[in-house]
Amino acid sequence: MNKIALLGTGLIGTFYTMSLLGQRRKDKIHVVCSVPEDSAREFAQKWNIPKYTSSMKEAIEDPEIDIVVVGLPNFLHKEAILMACKAKKSILCTKPLALNASEAKEILDAVEDAGLFNGYLEDLVYTPKTLKAIELVNGGALGRILWTRSREAHPGPHSAWFWDKKLSGGGALVDMGCHCIEIGRNFVGKDIKPVEVMCWAETQVKPIEAEDHAIALIKYESGAISQVEVSWNFRGGMDLRDEVSGTEGTIRLDHWLRTGFEVFTTGKTDNYVAEKAESDNGWLFPVGDEVHSLGYPDMFTDMLDSFDQGKKPRETFYDGYVVNAIMDACYKSAETRKWEPVELSDWRGKEGVSANVDLIDFDDLHFLIKREKMPDGNTKLMLKEKSTGKIIQKIITL
Ligand SMILES: NC(=O)c1ccc[n+]([C@@H]2O[C@H](COP(=O)([O-])OP(=O)(O)OC[C@H]3O[C@@H](n4cnc5c(N)ncnc54)[C@H](O)[C@@H]3O)[C@@H](O)[C@H]2O)c1
Repeated sequence: MNKIALLGTGLIGTFYTMSLLGQRRKDKIHVVCSVPEDSAREFAQKWNIPKYTSSMKEAIEDPEIDIVVVGLPNFLHKEAILMACKAKKSILCTKPLALNASEAKEILDAVEDAGLFNGYLEDLVYTPKTLKAIELVNGGALGRILWTRSREAHPGPHSAWFWDKKLSGGGALVDMGCHCIEIGRNFVGKDIKPVEVMCWAETQVKPIEAEDHAIALIKYESGAISQVEVSWNFRGGMDLRDEVSGTEGTIRLDHWLRTGFEVFTTGKTDNYVAEKAESDNGWLFPVGDEVHSLGYPDMFTDMLDSFDQGKKPRETFYDGYVVNAIMDACYKSAETRKWEPVELSDWRGKEGVSANVDLIDFDDLHFLIKREKMPDGNTKLMLKEKSTGKIIQKIITL
């Protein structure tokens, strides 16, 4: 059993607590920290947590604590993590790891220099559907990965600090693009280098300095491309979707709005429907087990099992650093309106991966481009002559 200090009792602190203390878990939250202190006290009472405080230092330095979980606003991640490093405590941090890549690198160096266990709490790569999809991709079911698309869009976040670029590091891209980028990396292969990005980011609706809508393309050394779509202007709930496509197949995932669970109600009761649901009447799309659907319990199982076994979890601070570096390149591209390189002073994956097209032999004289069964029952083949490069078609009759 590990004893945890949970910093932050807002939306993510609540989801983390539901996951850590739900379903007969063996680890315990020993102390919670939030401001004002009353909020920490109320949270501790509600969840039966022995200690509460409004002092990060006090929570982190509590001698009984094995692990610090950072669920604080983005601008406090670095301060909390450096404090945990000083206290030699293992650390799990929510997304995004930092406000930008240079801050993320500072954090990464600090935990690694101190030799501390670290986990990047990127829950959306742990959803049951995503874990299964990653397993299929890794098993080769889709062949060579060519394209991924990850979309997260909702009507905007629930606390003031998110909307202030100085406190959050950016808008919808930092808030949700970090998820989409890391989902793409998991499908493309985390050892494949992200090379350059093209990004459009705009403030379309909200009276803020940060972008409330962005679309980015991330090119990988393997030739794969990841498409990231984020918005704080989307109406109708939370749109969470992923797609992956490869030479041998395709996967489509819908995590939130269309999961096969649809309810109609006139809305006479005041029920919570699902995160970021905008309505509680008419046709609704509740989510059966919200924390599982968002990946939190599987994420903490991996994190805490890895901690117990002295190994690295699936997502570490290094991944958080790579994500921050990709987001920095996105912001640069949105400004210059050009493809911008991803600057990774510390790259730990493969180098020189080929983006060459795999040629499929049809026979000694031809490469196969495509085969299609036609409505008349015949099969059409698109072939390329090896000697001349000419493209021809061949019909195989029934
Ligand atoms: N899916 C996810 O992984 C996910 C979802 C939501 C939020 N997040 C991340 O979690 C972090 C927190 O977001 P949130 O939605 O819970 O925010 P929130 O505004 O709901 O909660 C923030 C919490 O931090 C506490 N806090 C603020 N300043 C503090 C201080 N100086 N000392 C101690 N406590 C302090 C507040 O009291 C509050 O409990 C952010 O980094 C956000 O990006 C992750």
